[in-house]
Amino acid sequence: MAIEFDSPVSWTAASPETLAMLQNLQPNILKPHVREFLTVLFLTFYDPAGAKTFIADLAGAMKSTHDHLGEIERFKKDKIPGTPYIGFGLSAAGYGFLKISPMPQDPSFQSGMHQTAGLNDPPIAEWEEHFQTPDALHAVILIGDMLRDDRNAARAKVQALIDAASGVTVIGTQDGVGQHNSNGQGIEHFGYVDGRSQPLFLTEDIQAEEDETDGIANWDPTSPLKQVVVADTAAPDPGIHLGSYFIFRKLEQNVKLFKEMELKFAEDLPIDDDERAGAMIVGRFEDGTPVTMQSEDGVESPVPNNFNYNSDKSGAKCPFVGHIRKTNPRGSGGFRQTRQQEHSHLMARRGQTYGVRTDNPNDGATANKPEKDVGLLFMAFNSDIGHQFEFTQITWANNPNFPQVPPGFAAPGVDPVIGQLPRGQARPDMTAPKTWGDPGSLSSAPAVPQAVTMKGGAYFFMPSLAFLRSLRTAGAEMAAR
Ligand code: HEM
Repeated sequence: MAIEFDSPVSWTAASPETLAMLQNLQPNILKPHVREFLTVLFLTFYDPAGAKTFIADLAGAMKSTHDHLGEIERFKKDKIPGTPYIGFGLSAAGYGFLKISPMPQDPSFQSGMHQTAGLNDPPIAEWEEHFQTPDALHAVILIGDMLRDDRNAARAKVQALIDAASGVTVIGTQDGVGQHNSNGQGIEHFGYVDGRSQPLFLTEDIQAEEDETDGIANWDPTSPLKQVVVADTAAPDPGIHLGSYFIFRKLEQNVKLFKEMELKFAEDLPIDDDERAGAMIVGRFEDGTPVTMQSEDGVESPVPNNFNYNSDKSGAKCPFVGHIRKTNPRGSGGFRQTRQQEHSHLMARRGQTYGVRTDNPNDGATANKPEKDVGLLFMAFNSDIGHQFEFTQITWANNPNFPQVPPGFAAPGVDPVIGQLPRGQARPDMTAPKTWGDPGSLSSAPAVPQAVTMKGGAYFFMPSLAFLRSLRTAGAEMAAR
């Protein structure tokens, strides 16, 4: 039985082919791997044979998706902690340097993030140094765990392999560390619960979403396997050996500016509810309550996700411009896209915050908030970069005219969190309701300025473990020549 790409898959009742696929797929793709403490290493290779042997050695230290899912079960049942996550990806330059053919076919992957003009990123000369020379950025390694010590131990193991290898150098290192609110939920630096809404690819996860959260009747996260993986064409058996395109973007957050502008947005509209002003910018209150569902925060845990914008057609609860409405309109985006077409743009987001806070993030103050050196390592898995990450950023977030609004309404404007216009171009005004749910109270106010700066990034492909292991023979043959 061939693997079913048009639907989600079960891992507990997997066919032999699906099982073989899961045993060769890297973790963190179909389901997030805990990466509370994360280190990202960026590599350059100097010796193709040495690099191939190194990659095969590294594969020996990596686990599969199937191993990971088993670890989660053992933790749930017997509280046995899982092992660290090690993920490995190659850039197009890496494939080229190692002369691996065929390289993954995605055109955006092949040309690189730095070539995608519509993202409106800062010029590459302003990116962090290791991102400035994409031809020399060959590979990425992710090392993550729940505990700092276990991440450090795994990192030391990876470093020992690098030290022992011929022609493998670390050109950049980035640490990530989780942030939490007072309920222990994962938040990003502006203070909002993050990572709640995800496309789901495992039938077990969809069932759990239905049974253990607020359900899936109004928003169904069910997603086909083909939305996150593709054949690993250089692997021994591309029919079952799959991989995924990995997006990495370092997004610095100016927390002080964002917190100030939340207050200013409330003043400009005007409304006397600063919390709702922030919720209208993001689409959720800080505790995750969707502003299209409630005018105030305080939903029950777990954070709800079973909602759409059907009862909010004029953007009088959640403004059209709200970050989560721009990046997942849940069937309300218009422009003749069906709900299913819209859904196909969603990617598996696997971000992590970086930077150390010296302030109390929850003290409600603005003056003491960091202006730089903290942010989000935006990471996501895609099966089609142009259709998913680039579409979301360019056609939705950066586009002042998305989503489609009723006749006579003002254009929504750019995503206030991540939207980027060409340099020097002013953001158009934003429209939001003064009274929650009252279309008659819609009012416009100056757009909030950009508080997120892209500091560098790249596209990688995370191949199957079978492919990584196969490089041992290739490396040995190359060395013998
Ligand atoms: C510093 C940058 C960013 C911040 C602070 C941020 C913040 C958030 C927050 C607080 C949520 C709500 C939690 C959730 O629903 O999971 C969210 C959701 C989301 N974000 Fe972002 N985000 C950032 C970057 C991005 C980027 C670069 C993209 C894509 C290009 C993106 C796409 C999404 C999507 C698709 C959702 C889920 C929306 C939904 O399903 O309703 N975000 N983000």
